[in-house]
Amino acid sequence: MSDVLVAEQVTKNFEGLVAVNKANIVVKENTFTMLIGPNGSGKTTLINCCTGILKPTSGRVMLGDTDITGWKPHQIYELGFVRSFQIPLPFIGLTVLDNVLGAMRNVGESPFHATNVNKWADQEEENMERALDILEKVGLDKQWDLPSASLGAAQLKMLEVAKGLSSGAKIIALDEPIGGVDTASAHEILSHVAELKKEGITFFVVEHRIDIAAPFADYVYAMDLGTIISEGPPQKVLTDPKVIEVYLGKGVEQC
Ligand SMILES: Nc1ncnc2c1ncn2[C@@H]1O[C@H](COP(=O)(O)OP(=O)(O)OP(=O)(O)O)[C@@H](O)[C@H]1O
Ligand SMILES: [Mg+2]
Repeated sequence: MSDVLVAEQVTKNFEGLVAVNKANIVVKENTFTMLIGPNGSGKTTLINCCTGILKPTSGRVMLGDTDITGWKPHQIYELGFVRSFQIPLPFIGLTVLDNVLGAMRNVGESPFHATNVNKWADQEEENMERALDILEKVGLDKQWDLPSASLGAAQLKMLEVAKGLSSGAKIIALDEPIGGVDTASAHEILSHVAELKKEGITFFVVEHRIDIAAPFADYVYAMDLGTIISEGPPQKVLTDPKVIEVYLGKGVEQC
């Protein structure tokens, strides 16, 4: 399995605070790699450094063979690395389908093809079929014509995944995909993710609800105070005394 995403010694300082401290992460192709840690341990900041939302203070981020350190989010997105946010932000005035179509590329956007009606009309038809196929894969096919504002929390997270897939993502970073959703919906979301993994998509997932997400994970990193404190297969990390200690020390409600 090749390495899709590698963070080497990534550090992010906010004024006096070291939010991420020399983190090393390897996300292998076609895995569900999970990042856990108590509130404020630096998980979102690390993902932000990898996806271009933040520029690391030091260290290096590789996407395949490309050094993407300090690249802009849209440049990283163009390379097939897409992220969802802790709080999903769909275009709420649009339908579910239009949100997915909006994330796709279309030759009509190019000034060289804009007047070639046949070419972009054909592509619009293909895009429509692909969008409906993607919506089926994430379990939103029955909601295709609903306004995205009417979706529940779990469905909004899946819409984020659908938008990522429609843009041709090879690796998707999800920040708390099952945060705030009921247990049955959480299982449903993760089952869809597991199916997409079978199709070759790689997932890098931040999650607090370890008990539900761990069975889906291939590899786990645990963070505390900006530092990676443990890594390995789920059972190894979740039974690591260092990991148990940071969770017990900060209260069970954060686990
Ligand atoms: N833009 C920012 N400016 C200053 N400090 C920040 C900024 N973003 C995050 N921090 C701080 O960096 C630390 C790590 O925050 P981060 O959001 O990465 O944690 P997290 O592990 O994602 O937490 P949670 O589980 O609550 O989402 C926290 O102390 C936070 O207050
Ligand atoms: Mg976070």
